[in-house]
Amino acid sequence: MREIPGPPPQSDVAAAGGLHTYQLDLHERYGPVARFQLPGALEAVSVADPVLLEATAAVNERPDQLFEFLAPLCEAGNLQTLPAGEHGPLRRALLSVLAGRRSHEAHFAGFTALATELADRWAERAAAGPVESQRDLSELSLRMICQYALGGGIDDPARVVSAFETVLTVYLGGLREGDEESERALAYLREVVDGVLAGGGSDLVAALVKADLSPARVRDTVLMIMLAAHHTTGVAVSWTLHLLSRHPEAAARVAAELDEVLGERAAPEYADLKRLTYLDMSLKESMRLYPPGPYGARETTEDLTLGDYHIPAGTTIFYPFWAVHLNPDHWPDPRAFIPDRFTPEEQAKRPRYAFIPFGLGPRSCEGAGLAMVEAELVLAVLLRRFRFEPVAGHPVVPVERFVLWAESDILLRVTERQMGQ
Ligand code: HEM
Repeated sequence: MREIPGPPPQSDVAAAGGLHTYQLDLHERYGPVARFQLPGALEAVSVADPVLLEATAAVNERPDQLFEFLAPLCEAGNLQTLPAGEHGPLRRALLSVLAGRRSHEAHFAGFTALATELADRWAERAAAGPVESQRDLSELSLRMICQYALGGGIDDPARVVSAFETVLTVYLGGLREGDEESERALAYLREVVDGVLAGGGSDLVAALVKADLSPARVRDTVLMIMLAAHHTTGVAVSWTLHLLSRHPEAAARVAAELDEVLGERAAPEYADLKRLTYLDMSLKESMRLYPPGPYGARETTEDLTLGDYHIPAGTTIFYPFWAVHLNPDHWPDPRAFIPDRFTPEEQAKRPRYAFIPFGLGPRSCEGAGLAMVEAELVLAVLLRRFRFEPVAGHPVVPVERFVLWAESDILLRVTERQMGQ
């Protein structure tokens, strides 16, 4: 067994501009398995090799310290760090709804209406200048997940959206201690979920009740779903538009495919999505280059062997999804945008965990299936109707703000396009 390489034990993560960029440099210097110190003095082992990751795929615990920042949203224990025995039934309940085709189909018309509303707004203001795609698309995905998780019977969806934004900026942004305004906003959100609970108004809440979750745990779960769902799905779409705006030949292929599959229709039906193969490949290639959740973590409960390395029980394993996606051993010319990497033939040549935007194993994202449906629908509606161009001189710098986010938004010039253009 070899000693795990790594820098001297002193965290220089902040100096690197954040964990997402630190990881890229760490693995470039020390290879695919490296130890480093997380802010707060916790030592972790980071694994950027997809084959070695297989040995960790069954690990079913997360380190508490790294998820403490979510505590203000949790009355009944933090869902992200629940012990495996409690987490399993919750995961099954979530998957029974979030991963089910029936549920995706049932919400498709409502999602289409929300996406079309945004497209109408962009069409109206196109002449006035570029759109702030990241801001608008995050808000759209928050509206979608509210509709999904809370059902259609909410009196004031705009108030729910703004209360959630307040809670996020204050508590999770760490800007200030929870103040009166944010406490009121959180209490309001819990009341809304209680109303849905009492009225049985969403299939998600119904599935959680059926799994015997306490009302407090249902509230926590719904808030956590709103958090996990909206920024991630929003930025997956805005990064894809960003990349397509800079690769006109790929954008033209997406447009031709949409014209062929949709004809004169402005939006796809659920069944059309599986025919939008180049759109799907472009979205995946964008999530490879800009994974919305750039890293994850586990805590080992028994000793593991990763190639030449011994990992004792109780180790924090760090999953650097971004570094895995840019690993040159599996992705030649890793920074280039090449959607054809995701043809079935090309995918079959790569190890299973070379592309892991939704994580891996028993703690992977339960919303992956729903997220792909939402993102593909929104992209189809927008790219059927518009051509997107970058704004010269506007810098697009990935930073971390819960998700991999563009620091000053992604400004795009929008022009309506006719079929065949
Ligand atoms: C493009 C959109 C999305 C991306 C890229 C994404 C990515 C991720 C990642 C990387 C994780 C951590 C996985 C790990 O540690 O292995 C995660 C966890 C999670 N995600 Fe997503 N996610 C997305 C959308 C959603 C949506 C739409 C929902 C729900 C409707 C959702 C619900 C969750 C939940 C509940 C967890 C915690 C998993 C657990 O601890 O059991 N996500 N997601």
